[in-house]
Amino acid sequence: MSGRFDSRGVAVVTGAAQGIGLGLVSRLASQGFAVALIDRDEERLAQAAGQLESSGAKVVSVAADLTKSESVTKAFETIKHAAGPVDFLVNNAGAERNQKFLSMTEAEWDYILDANLRSQFLCCKAVLPDMVERSFGRIVNISSRAWLGGFGQANYSAAKGAVVSLTRSLAIEFAAKGVTVNAIAPGLIDTPLFRTFKPELQEQLKRSIPVRRMGTPDDVGLAVDFFLDPAASYITGQTLYVCGGRSLSSVSV
Ligand SMILES: NC(=O)c1ccc[n+]([C@@H]2O[C@H](COP(=O)([O-])OP(=O)(O)OC[C@H]3O[C@@H](n4cnc5c(N)ncnc54)[C@H](O)[C@@H]3O)[C@@H](O)[C@H]2O)c1
Repeated sequence: MSGRFDSRGVAVVTGAAQGIGLGLVSRLASQGFAVALIDRDEERLAQAAGQLESSGAKVVSVAADLTKSESVTKAFETIKHAAGPVDFLVNNAGAERNQKFLSMTEAEWDYILDANLRSQFLCCKAVLPDMVERSFGRIVNISSRAWLGGFGQANYSAAKGAVVSLTRSLAIEFAAKGVTVNAIAPGLIDTPLFRTFKPELQEQLKRSIPVRRMGTPDDVGLAVDFFLDPAASYITGQTLYVCGGRSLSSVSV
């Protein structure tokens, strides 16, 4: 479990330029992991990597569109060359483009399925050969509470549901190889993505959270820590809600 850096291991976080991903990668860096950030937003990625480096972290950052296989292959080759094989992968990159079903275009469907699901498929393919060879790996796939279903979210909900199924299938396939694969289903987390919603909708959504507060990237981070722990070797194929109890309530807006 040691990469070229002397650290707790090499951890890749996708979609690490902002929001939950940035929170996760900062948390992992502060815990002594060598971290690799991947994001398609070059400018924000450079800012994020710079911030981490200035705090003394061992950082590799690669700009890549994770829906394209060539770009994923190149990104992971760069990371391996710079830091060593990947021990920990957090598949966090994702996007949301809500639309009532009858107005939803094929392009909106494909974009969301690619950003949330295909990206995870490609990243898992990139890291699993080394994990199997080294008989160790931890993969955490970020799904969403919205996989339960959401108004105007047929594309996003379908993609995040498929993330749960992908997680379960990979968990079975790689269980005997020392690799665990788990998912986290966050509820409403205060990030740039949430802030793109109309203010009325933001207020309405906040009122629907049983614990009466928005989640933070660190709330998700706590669950990531748990699944990445090398001691968590008997826990695989699970989906953990981090949603302030919102998965317990009935239909959401
Ligand atoms: N914020 C929430 O309330 C919430 C709730 C449930 C689940 N999630 C999930 O958590 C994850 C992070 O969400 P967030 O709120 O931080 O989102 P965000 O939009 O703030 O950040 C997502 C990051 O992923 C990157 N990204 C998107 N598509 C990419 C691609 N094809 N290639 C490379 N990078 C790509 C973006 O550039 C961005 O930096 C997503 O998977 C999202 O679906 C978020």
